[in-house]
Amino acid sequence: MEESCKNVYITTPIYYVNDVAHIGHAYTTIIADMLARYSRLTGLNTFLLTGTDEHGQKISQSAELRGKTAKEYADEISGKFRALWDDFDITYDKFIRTTDEEHKLGVQKAFQTMFDKGDIYKGEYEGFYCVSCETFFTEKQLVDEQFCPDCGRPTSIVKEESYFFKLSKYEDKLIKWYEENEDCILPRAKKNEISNFVKGGLRDLSISRTSFDWGVKLPDSMNEPKHVMYVWLDALMNYITALGYGTDDKNMNFWPANVQLVGKDILRFHAIYWPAFLMSLDLPLPKHIAAHGWWTRDGEKMSKSKGNVVDPKLVADAYGLDAFRYFMLREVPFGQDGDFSQKALIDRINSDLGNDLGNLLNRISGMSGKYFDYKVSSVDVEKFHAKELAEIDAILGNVEAYIFNMQINRYLEDLWKVLTIANKAINDYEPWNLMKDGKSDEAMALVALITNIMAKVALLLDSVMPEKISLIAQSLGIKIDTATYNSLIKNKNLIPDTVITKVDQLFPRIEEVLLEQPASSDITKSECEMKNEKTKEVSVEDDNLITIDQFFQTTLKIGTIVEAEEVPKSAKLLKLQVDLGEGRNRQILAGIKEYYSAEELVGTQACVVANLKPAKLMGMISEGMLMAARDENGLSLLRPQAPKKSGTKIS
Ligand code: ME8
Ligand code: MG
Repeated sequence: MEESCKNVYITTPIYYVNDVAHIGHAYTTIIADMLARYSRLTGLNTFLLTGTDEHGQKISQSAELRGKTAKEYADEISGKFRALWDDFDITYDKFIRTTDEEHKLGVQKAFQTMFDKGDIYKGEYEGFYCVSCETFFTEKQLVDEQFCPDCGRPTSIVKEESYFFKLSKYEDKLIKWYEENEDCILPRAKKNEISNFVKGGLRDLSISRTSFDWGVKLPDSMNEPKHVMYVWLDALMNYITALGYGTDDKNMNFWPANVQLVGKDILRFHAIYWPAFLMSLDLPLPKHIAAHGWWTRDGEKMSKSKGNVVDPKLVADAYGLDAFRYFMLREVPFGQDGDFSQKALIDRINSDLGNDLGNLLNRISGMSGKYFDYKVSSVDVEKFHAKELAEIDAILGNVEAYIFNMQINRYLEDLWKVLTIANKAINDYEPWNLMKDGKSDEAMALVALITNIMAKVALLLDSVMPEKISLIAQSLGIKIDTATYNSLIKNKNLIPDTVITKVDQLFPRIEEVLLEQPASSDITKSECEMKNEKTKEVSVEDDNLITIDQFFQTTLKIGTIVEAEEVPKSAKLLKLQVDLGEGRNRQILAGIKEYYSAEELVGTQACVVANLKPAKLMGMISEGMLMAARDENGLSLLRPQAPKKSGTKIS
């Protein structure tokens, strides 16, 4: 987003339509929206792209599981993503779907171009494939000879005819790109990881599949009706097909992208495959690929298949969209993981938003109303507050650099420093005493200083909290537009005379957690429905079989029982503290008192269902379940045959 360019292009990943959005997706999209809004306000011609990734084996399997065609299913979920972003006022300029005709034409054009260049050849692929990650692996990369090194799910063996992209040819050029462009991958530490990976050697990439047909066909000229494109080739191309690549080229003047936002899970695809494809197409490379960290719940990556997701709509409805946006952008340094907690969100709302920002606005309308009939004039601000003005202009003059480096949390921290200067000035200069002493010009200068600070901060916060900022702007009688931005921020001017309007409390205090169970009811329901449907569907002929993926929806782990005690007044329950290798013990209530004494359990191990929703039994929380088998001779816990490390996964 360098100032030198007039056209700014910002992208999010296109999300898989294998289930509905959670706060991880909202996070990426909100960052991108913030950048796009900011860029537009500064007067740059901006294009924000988001959309959905709809082809591939994973989607086709998800659809089948629900008894739908892949297209029906993709239409439904893509529609939900789009509706959520509309609901969230995401200012995308285009929402692309990989099932769009123009996209498919563009991908075929890209394939043809790379083929004509001699970068694509036919061969046979033999190796392993993780459907969930849509990724090929070699045997050496697998965990325990079978499992995906990225997500831990079992992989399948693939042996099929395939076209390959000469990725190995681009090794040196990629390394050169990383070396010559300090910030091409952000955060920088990630760039080193990627660069080392490439230095370790790249294998050519299989880019077509023949074992299913839910994908973009190869160009007709190839005469290969059995082949569809590898979903990542198809998906990555969206960033240029959205601009008209291969069809009308209408918006290709936005290429190269300024910022391509991704989560760290898919950085490898964006920092290695994507630039290599672009080099093959003789197109310029993106200026920045920026990878953020993961939102976790209780330390585990939030993901649909783990069932530990938070529904962003529930959170935004309960706490307010702007507060949610602020929280996401402020709470976690870009690139790091963050644990979602309602308590942290409430703290941010009450302190940063309520106390520091909202109250300051109330103080402005209070003081201006009481002393000056709501009229504010900046005429004497320089005279009495040159020091404060210099201080805030120095801070505000430097905040933009944080945006270019994706340090949005620091950008916000600095805006809050400016709010602190304002709040402190009121306490230091005591306008009530100035008025008492007959120094009303000094009191006016102070009120105007605070009003100006609020106006400047509002301009810079508009991209973060557009709804609330429009209320602030209304109250101060200013406009949030490029002209005002240029005047107040770029040229460091003060606002013209204005009349303040009183507004309600912007961020009313929140006293308690508003969502009982932030896990998405919607998603959980759809997973349940899916299972029911599936059971109904297959039980007749298939004797209730499940897929391996369904089995892996249950996380089973080895737990070490570190404490055990009887639950008073309960004939059955023991209260256990179980170590699952998570750095804290889980409390599990188990109905095994008739079969085991508390003493004999301590120090032993058992198999634990680790991803159950916490439940309350006799008023106490239980965060998991021990596995046991019971027959007419009694009950016995399932245990590893030899001791295993606490938290070892069972598969
Ligand atoms: O990977 N925390 O789609 P996807 C933070 N279709 N961000 C998260 C997250 C979490 N727990 N979970 C998901 C795909 N995300 C491909 C992309 S692009 C050409 C193709 C966000 O639905 C984050 O941006 O699995 C992550 O990279 C993306 O969603 C993955 O979404
Ligand atoms: Mg994913």
